[in-house]
Amino acid sequence: MRPILRALASSLIAIVVVAWISLPLASRAAAPAPAVGVHGMVVAAESHAAQAGLAMLRAGGNAIDAAVATSFALGVTEPYHSGLGGGGFLLIRLANGEVVALDARETAPATASRDLFVANGVAKDASRSGPLAVATPGLLAGLALALERYGTKSLAEVMAPAIALAADGFPISLRHARVLEAWKAMGLAARFPETAAIQLPPAGVAIAPGWKLVQPELAASLRKIARVGPAEFYKGSLAGAIAAEMERRGGLLSATDLAGYTPVLRPPLRGNYRGFEVISFPPPSSGGVALIEMLNLLEGFELRPLGAGSSASIHRIAESMKLAFADRAAYLGDPDFVAVPTEQLIAKDYAAKLRARILPSRLHRAPWTWGQDEVAIRVPGPGLGELPLSHGGTTHFSVTDALGNAVATTQTVNLLFGSGITVAGTGIVLNDEMDDFSVALNQPNAFGLVDVNGTNAVAPGKRPLSSMTPTLVLENGHVRIVAGSPGGPRIITTVLLALLNMIDFGMDPSEAVAAPRFHHQWVPDELSIEAGIPTDVREGLRRRGHTVTVAERNWSSAQVIAIDPKTGWHLGATDPRTDGLAVGY
Ligand code: DON
Repeated sequence: MRPILRALASSLIAIVVVAWISLPLASRAAAPAPAVGVHGMVVAAESHAAQAGLAMLRAGGNAIDAAVATSFALGVTEPYHSGLGGGGFLLIRLANGEVVALDARETAPATASRDLFVANGVAKDASRSGPLAVATPGLLAGLALALERYGTKSLAEVMAPAIALAADGFPISLRHARVLEAWKAMGLAARFPETAAIQLPPAGVAIAPGWKLVQPELAASLRKIARVGPAEFYKGSLAGAIAAEMERRGGLLSATDLAGYTPVLRPPLRGNYRGFEVISFPPPSSGGVALIEMLNLLEGFELRPLGAGSSASIHRIAESMKLAFADRAAYLGDPDFVAVPTEQLIAKDYAAKLRARILPSRLHRAPWTWGQDEVAIRVPGPGLGELPLSHGGTTHFSVTDALGNAVATTQTVNLLFGSGITVAGTGIVLNDEMDDFSVALNQPNAFGLVDVNGTNAVAPGKRPLSSMTPTLVLENGHVRIVAGSPGGPRIITTVLLALLNMIDFGMDPSEAVAAPRFHHQWVPDELSIEAGIPTDVREGLRRRGHTVTVAERNWSSAQVIAIDPKTGWHLGATDPRTDGLAVGY
C-alpha cells in the first residue's frame, strides 16, 4: 500500500470497524485493529506464507493463485501442520457467484480394513504415529485442480515462494520453536530421528526463534513438482519414494493408492442465519453440518440481549454444541460410503424440534437418544488419553481479492508432524489422518471424538470424517466473512463463536477471534473454557449443571477476513493465540 493510502487506511480503520455491522457496540474483547486492504487480503497462521499469497495478489493473480501459493508455503514454513504429505479442504467462491467445495482429503489405503487398529499385535497408538497411520495424501492433487480450474498463474509461479522458503530457509517464529520443543518433549524426535535431523537444530544449537530452518530435500521435491506437475508425486519418482518408505516400514499406502487418488468437487453446504447466507464444507467434513445445525438452533434465541460471554449466552450456545456433536457421532461419515442425512440435519424444522432440549436454566443431560433413529449411546470411558491441545497438526488461511473471489482453506497432517515419518530423500512429512476414523465403536480418537454407529469406520478408499470447517458468510450475494481454524473438534466451535461474535454481538473480526472460547463436544460431558472466561460466569454455568473445566492452554488459530459492506474494504484478523499475519494491499 502506498504511504498516503496507508495513512488514509489507519485513519479510516475506526470508522470501518464501527460500520462493520450496523448494531451498537456489544461486549468486546481487547484486540488489535484488524489489518485493512482495499484490494485484497491474505490471513494465515504463519507470516512468510501470508506474504507468499500477498505476492501473488500484487503480481496480478487472483485469490485462487494466492491461496495455492499460501498453501504450498505453509507446507514449508509449518511442516508440522500441513504439506504435500497431507490433505485439506478448499472452499472456493468465484467472482461469478459459484461456490465449490474442493475435497482434497486423504483416503484410506486399499488394503486398510475396518478392524485394522484393534487387531491383535497392532500397537495402541498405531493410528496416530508410524506407518499404519498414513492415509493417501490429497493436498497436492487438490491444489493443482484448484489452480488449473480457477487460477490464472502457472504451477511454477505459485510454487516459487515455497521453493525459495525451503531452499534458502527462513527464521522460525516463537510458536514454531515451541512446537519443536513440544514435539521433542513428547518423545517423537527420538522416535523419528530422520524427521528430527531435518526439523531440529543440530546438536549444540538451541531451539529458539530466529533459528533458520532450511529444507533442501523438500525444495528439490517441490522443484520436481513445479516442473513435471502433480503426476511426479502421484505416479513419478516421488510416488516411488513414498511407496518404498511405506514398504520398508510396514505401512499400507502403496504406489497404486497414490496413482488412484482423486480430489472431489462437491456442492458446498448452504444454510442461513439471521439474514446472512452461511456456506460451509459438506461431508466428509462434519464441520459444515454441525455449524449450520448449531446456527439453526441458536436462531431461535435472542443472543444479543444476553451479552457476549455471559453465562446465559454461553449456556445456550454450549447446549447447541452438544446437540450438533451428538449428531456428528451418530450420523456422519464419508458420503461416498455411508448414507448421511445431511439435508435433515441442517433443516430448520429439525432444529426447531431439537431446540426444545435447550432449557434456559439447566442443562439437558447426556446421554440421550435421538429423535430420528433413537440410537442408544454408551458414553465411553477414558480412551488412550487426550493429547494436549497444542499437539494438533492443522492450519487455516483465508484469502480475498478485488474481483470478488474468496478462498477458505484448512489443511492438515492431523497431529504434529503427522505420522512422524519423513520420506527418505524427499523432505515430505506423511500424515496420520487414519486416526480421524473411528478405530472401533465408541472409542475416542486423539481428539476424544466418538462414532456410535460405525459411519466413520475404516474402509478402503474411504475418507476419514473431518472437523475442518472452512466457511463463507454472504449478505445480498456479497462475501462478508471468510473464516476457519485448526483445533480438531474445536475447529467447529471456534468458527461458530467467530461468526456469533460478529453477527450477534457486533464485534469486528479481530475482537471476534480474540474473545475467550468455550467448547462442548457432547462426549466427554464437559464444558471446556479458556481461562479468560470470568469466575462469576463459570459459577453461572455450574449452577446450570455444567461440568466446567478451565483448559490449561487457549486453543485454535482462527484466520478470518471480513469485508465491510459499505466501503468494500477487506479486514483481516489473525488469531492472537498464534503468531500469524493478516496482510492486505
Ligand atoms: O480433519 C480433522 O478434523 C483433523 N485432522 C484436524 C486436526 C486439527 O485440527 C489439529 N489441530 N489443532
